[in-house]
Amino acid sequence: MKKKQDIPFTFGVNIPDATLDKYDNHIIRTLSSMQGQYFDTESYEAMLLEDDQVLYEVFEIKRPEIAGELLTGLSVVHPGKVGDEFFMTKGHFHTVLETAEVYYCLQGEGYMVMETPEGDWAVEELRPGRVLYVPPRWAHRSVNSSADEDLVTFFVYPGHAGHDYGTIEEQGFRNLVVEKNGRSKIIDNPRWRHQEERK
Ligand SMILES: [Fe+2]
Repeated sequence: MKKKQDIPFTFGVNIPDATLDKYDNHIIRTLSSMQGQYFDTESYEAMLLEDDQVLYEVFEIKRPEIAGELLTGLSVVHPGKVGDEFFMTKGHFHTVLETAEVYYCLQGEGYMVMETPEGDWAVEELRPGRVLYVPPRWAHRSVNSSADEDLVTFFVYPGHAGHDYGTIEEQGFRNLVVEKNGRSKIIDNPRWRHQEERK
């Protein structure tokens, strides 16, 4: 008899509710977990005083966090802005840098903002039906540029990848996605400082 974890299984993705019909872990990230990440700190502090609102949620299917396994789940970024900057995820490098990730966009509109430790950067559009391949070494953050709709993506990444949030918390991403004259615009982050330059 095989161990229970090795039996194939299925699960459903509910759209437009943006949930999985089965999941093991539900992560809720609120405004207060994004300290220092938004450019407009004044707006950030003012919003936080008002309400520590939910920015995004992640529903995870638990599997052993080892090479050979795949971790899957649903990421739901809610619509909204801090100042002119759209709601976004914390963003991370994988602890094991040489690991990739696939995102499949199911609902909404937005961007994946990415960069490497070497300072290369890329921004790709997310919309329903688009698949994004994030190669090894690229940090990634999803940004919801819709005024009223959740950005929902399904993700798959290697079990041993791990998350390094600290590097991004310190240096930020090189690009910001802001609203300008009713449209989304990708701009340089004036506060971005490359890891190498800080040394
Ligand atoms: Fe990732």
